[in-house]
Amino acid sequence: MKRIAVMTSGGDSPGINAAIRAVVRTALEYEIEVYGVRQGYTGLINGDFELLTSVEVSGILQRGGTILQTARNEEFKSPAGQKKGLRRLNEHHIEAVVIIGGNGSLSGALALHKLGFKVVAIPGSIDNDIYGTDMAIGVDSALNTILDALDHLRDTASSHQRAFIIETMGRNCGYLALMGSILGGAEIVVTPERPPTMEEVEAALEDAYVRGKSHAIAVIAEGAPYKATELADYLNKHPTVGFEIRLTILGHIQRGGSPTAFDRLLATRMGVKAVRALMDGESGKMTALNGRKMDMIPIEDAISQIRPISDSYFEMARFLAR
Ligand code: F6P
Repeated sequence: MKRIAVMTSGGDSPGINAAIRAVVRTALEYEIEVYGVRQGYTGLINGDFELLTSVEVSGILQRGGTILQTARNEEFKSPAGQKKGLRRLNEHHIEAVVIIGGNGSLSGALALHKLGFKVVAIPGSIDNDIYGTDMAIGVDSALNTILDALDHLRDTASSHQRAFIIETMGRNCGYLALMGSILGGAEIVVTPERPPTMEEVEAALEDAYVRGKSHAIAVIAEGAPYKATELADYLNKHPTVGFEIRLTILGHIQRGGSPTAFDRLLATRMGVKAVRALMDGESGKMTALNGRKMDMIPIEDAISQIRPISDSYFEMARFLAR
């Protein structure tokens, strides 16, 4: 193998640059040239490629976002779009591609693999919804951002005797909300997987008030069956809670920032593993953290379902909030 490409697609997440760096420097170790594809599948279709030398990936390990930029592309979902991308890769004499991203990016990667092109994927998404890997790149950093926000909000909440409704990202997966609630000491959490009713949220906040707490926190995942704004409206209409209600939607703050040590290590290990897997002739596979081991699993398995959250965490969230 003489030339490969690397690209990032879908939502960015902290640690992606560390993975790009690891891919480039591992490939250089094997005297393989690496081209970066700009703006995900959009750049693939348009042939927006640039040579990445060791210098181009220097000083990026600690940077959030992606130096290659990213996009959500509709055209690549069609067979015509996929063939355009394949043509561009062939025009540039690229023999394999490493694709870093979430579920949508993995579907694109699988399509390329099915067209006979060599592809290895790396899971990057703050949502931790990618099946088959214990963690995706960026989850730990996003969680730390959430905890930081929760800690800040608790300070002001207890000064004012208020209850905060805090919305986290995660698309259809409640992982960030649940972990944020356990590690940030919330009274209750609303996830798409196990949503309490608004009456139950009200009861949990009321209970915290009656027990004499100076503040209360309810974390709600963006994919919950009712919106954070609806919950805040509902609670405002039920003054039995005792606390004044405030709402904070954390939003895209969760996607940025410098990656944690965990994410830098995960991204680095995955980048190295991805290139070695290509060298071993693998294709259609994704790097996956399995306990302490780094495995390769079929992309088809990774996109077959949303990563389930262990029951034990829901249980913990319940009794630790008492
Ligand atoms: O998948 C990552 C994610 O941040 C989700 O948590 C969120 O639902 C979505 O992307 C937001 O997408 P966008 O940045 O396109 O608004």
